[in-house]
Amino acid sequence: MSKNKVSIIGAGNVGATATYYIAEKVIADLVMVDVAGGMTQAKALDFLHAGPLRGYDVSIAGTDDFARIADSNVVVITAGLPRKPGMDRMDLLKVNADIVKQAARAIVEHAPNAIVIVVSNPLDIMCHVALRSTGFDLRRVVGMAGILDSTRFRYFVAEQLGCALSSVHAMVLGGHGDQMVPLPRLTTVGGVPITELMDAATVARLVDRTRKGGAEIVALLKTGSAYYAPAASVADMVEAVITDRKHLAPCATYVRGEYGIDDLFIGVPVILGKNGVERIIELALTDDERKQLLASADAVRKGVEELNTFFRPT
Ligand code: NAI
Ligand code: 2OP
Repeated sequence: MSKNKVSIIGAGNVGATATYYIAEKVIADLVMVDVAGGMTQAKALDFLHAGPLRGYDVSIAGTDDFARIADSNVVVITAGLPRKPGMDRMDLLKVNADIVKQAARAIVEHAPNAIVIVVSNPLDIMCHVALRSTGFDLRRVVGMAGILDSTRFRYFVAEQLGCALSSVHAMVLGGHGDQMVPLPRLTTVGGVPITELMDAATVARLVDRTRKGGAEIVALLKTGSAYYAPAASVADMVEAVITDRKHLAPCATYVRGEYGIDDLFIGVPVILGKNGVERIIELALTDDERKQLLASADAVRKGVEELNTFFRPT
């Protein structure tokens, strides 16, 4: 038993895998909530059976009862449908906005002090849904995307240079879409920017592969989207909050003027700690980087405008 509690709403591929990764950190008891019946309980039991071998001694519950998230320090929202044949982007936006709203209402009712980590797609838009539907302080609602996009970039750099993954640090800003903004200038190997370690064409190829990292996996999987790296990214964020690690990482955060962007969730570097987003770090960007970030913000804003055509938080 742990004195910390983390709940995951949506025990599908990302939610269940994140639960497992968090369990292995032995930092919190866990509750998975899903509308999928016995599947959720089955996954929780299966994780518990693995505990003696994997060495985690935390409680893990699987349920369809949202009240079981009561008193969570952190609630992660990974509930949502993937796009199905015949559904356009707007249809998906509506379905997932309703699902995230339902999760947000449950958080307000049962875990009103939790930090909320949003994962459901379209990510930046779902952050707006979660913020409006909870009415929480801006800094308590944060989206997972930048850590995932950055870890993909890190891997591609390490693979290209044949160097240790742990030596590579990367920074990817912007919305979680085709217009995300990988920053080669601030992506380093042992402190050396990759722009000094490879030619411009190679950098451009890795940037492009990072932008398309999610799509590359969807095309191979055919039945869904990536979940191991997304779940690892969720676990990293949860750990930062539970252990108050003051972790500097790019996360979808509500900005009010930072980077010249107003009233929008967008990926920027933040300090993550027990209070959620404890600080937004404003980097000095080059003109080109700033232009790319503003273009990415415009794309997110268009999604928010679509959301506004139908969405009411109540
Ligand atoms: P999945 O289909 O495996 O799991 C989704 C789960 O949500 C299902 O188990 C379903 O029963 C559950 N669910 C549906 N409605 C619910 C409700 N009202 N309450 C509770 N649970 C509900 O999907 P997967 O792969 O786990 O992805 C989950 C979401 O995360 C998707 O929207 C996906 O696009 C998004 N995603 C976001 C990433 C990011 O970087 N932000 C990365 C990877 C996935
Ligand atoms: C990804 O980047 C689907 O957003 C998800 O893999």
